[in-house]
Amino acid sequence: MQTYLTFVDDPSFEAQCDHLAGVAWPEFMLHDPNANWFDVVYRRFPECQVVLKDAAGAPVAFGNTVPIWWSGRAQDLPDAGWGAAIARGARGKRANTLCALQAMVRPEHWGAGWSSRIIQAMRAVAAQRGYRYLVAPVRPNQKHLYPLIPIERYMRWTRPDGLPFDAWLRVHVRLGARIAKAAPRSMRIAAGVADWEARTGLTFPASGEYIVPQALAPLRVDRARDRAVYVEPNVWVIHPLTAPAESLKR
Ligand SMILES: CC(C)(COP(=O)(O)OP(=O)(O)OC[C@H]1O[C@@H](n2cnc3c(N)ncnc32)[C@H](O)[C@@H]1OP(=O)(O)O)[C@@H](O)C(=O)NCCC(=O)NCCS
Repeated sequence: MQTYLTFVDDPSFEAQCDHLAGVAWPEFMLHDPNANWFDVVYRRFPECQVVLKDAAGAPVAFGNTVPIWWSGRAQDLPDAGWGAAIARGARGKRANTLCALQAMVRPEHWGAGWSSRIIQAMRAVAAQRGYRYLVAPVRPNQKHLYPLIPIERYMRWTRPDGLPFDAWLRVHVRLGARIAKAAPRSMRIAAGVADWEARTGLTFPASGEYIVPQALAPLRVDRARDRAVYVEPNVWVIHPLTAPAESLKR
């Protein structure tokens, strides 16, 4: 496996990671209030933020994680997925599991296999630091093309070869992860209608449900209350680790 670095090795990685997030994600996703926890996570757990460099020494891929406590039972993974994990992890005292928060590859390097390497690096951090599992509330990267399909159905779609239909879920499963359960309310982004119009470049003339580019489910607009709410579904996956006995981190 390729050698990885962490935010401990070079504090400038944090700003580079934040900059890439501004490029890699659709604008509306940057407004989830739980994203504010990233600062806390970076300060408390810099050793859990992984970075891969290319042959020329330039950072190409970032993988952010947070330690959490988890029972080991799939049904106990929260329906509130990503938001619950980052908020609890940032404030938590005990942890036995590493939870992936985001994986990002510089757009000019997309399609070159970096995504598997960054997941493997996250797994390596989890194993080396004595965590029992790596879990991830995965944002399936083709779900935005099927925003009307319930996540519980989408996550079970497979190709003729038996692997997941979704490319990003496929990367995890190929590495040995198990699709555990849906996280139907992984992100919740609520704002005034004008804010949503500015963030999406769309106009929402009347109340109703709207398909928004890059969104995994419809946006619900209530003009009378000047409120638009996006609830993003994700998919929990569990990566097995070959770590020894369960250990607690403080
Ligand atoms: C998702 C992301 C990490 C993939 O990284 P990558 O290094 O380009 O991916 P890889 O080259 O390893 O390819 C992985 C799989 O995705 C597919 N893929 C790559 N780019 C794709 C795209 N734009 N659309 C659909 N599928 C794509 C590949 O074909 C491959 O699937 P296959 O080999 O089973 O056919 C990258 O596009 C990214 O950073 N996106 C923005 C952030 C994000 O969505 N992160 C994931 C959720 S946290």
